[in-house]
Amino acid sequence: MMIEINDVAPLRKAIRARQRKDEAVAFVPTMGNLHAGHLDLVRVAGERGSAVVVSIYVNPLQFGQHEDLDSYPRTLEADKAALEKYNIDILFVPGDRTMYPRGIEQQTKVVVPGLGEALCGEHRPGHFVGVTTVVNRLFNIVQPDIAVFGKKDYQQLIIIRRMVSDLAMPVEVIGVDTVRERDGLALSSRNRYLSAQQRTVAPGLYQTLREARDTLQRTEVDRSRIEADGYRKLVDLGFSPDYFSVRTQADLSNPDSQDSSLVILAAARLGQARLIDNIEAELGCQ
Ligand code: PAF
Repeated sequence: MMIEINDVAPLRKAIRARQRKDEAVAFVPTMGNLHAGHLDLVRVAGERGSAVVVSIYVNPLQFGQHEDLDSYPRTLEADKAALEKYNIDILFVPGDRTMYPRGIEQQTKVVVPGLGEALCGEHRPGHFVGVTTVVNRLFNIVQPDIAVFGKKDYQQLIIIRRMVSDLAMPVEVIGVDTVRERDGLALSSRNRYLSAQQRTVAPGLYQTLREARDTLQRTEVDRSRIEADGYRKLVDLGFSPDYFSVRTQADLSNPDSQDSSLVILAAARLGQARLIDNIEAELGCQ
């Protein structure tokens, strides 16, 4: 049976009881408004760990000044109902004072240099510092053996892997494939900002990524050409792209001719919504 806990001390007590029984704790951090993509992370956590902890916390530290912190959907009751169908042990729902007892300004921050400033980091300054800081604190509170993240936020996943490695955190980080609508649109809480007309355009983001991946895998075309074509296609479809970029899967660096495991990442605005998506490409596999 799922129990809800809001504070650090009772959470640690409940988790310690499970760890004493040698149960591997699998953790899924979320900001709530759970959709099928989140629930798939919970499913994977259930397969990999014997005790599952899910957190719901809309982290103010990862939102920029003009971003959607206030309007970000908060649907705790519906989230709890969705989670009841899974075999979860603990739902952790901390408030701001539990997460940032000294306030956001005084909070010790975790910075992943370089990786955190590229791609989305360039367009959302401070965003990844907010993510790594809250995930670090959540990891220290929950002390999971396994943590599960979606590949939809590919850059976030790579940054968290780097943080875990750099800080020697004893956590296995698992990345799970993106869950999509039938037309290819990646599930996201922010899809609700799309108008009916924009919703018909939105699948074009993944379609453009797929076409770019196919071209990349099929031909010896220059990477910058793929990026420029993808960007232009998004503009033609009505998006305002932030970037369309081919990187290495390992560390999101610019690939050289030796690199064969690549990922194409894109972020683009469509009306009120900023959509991100990506697709992995394996060269020499066709
Ligand atoms: O991916 C998210 O929902 C958030 O960035 C996370 C990892 C829960 C941190 O607030």
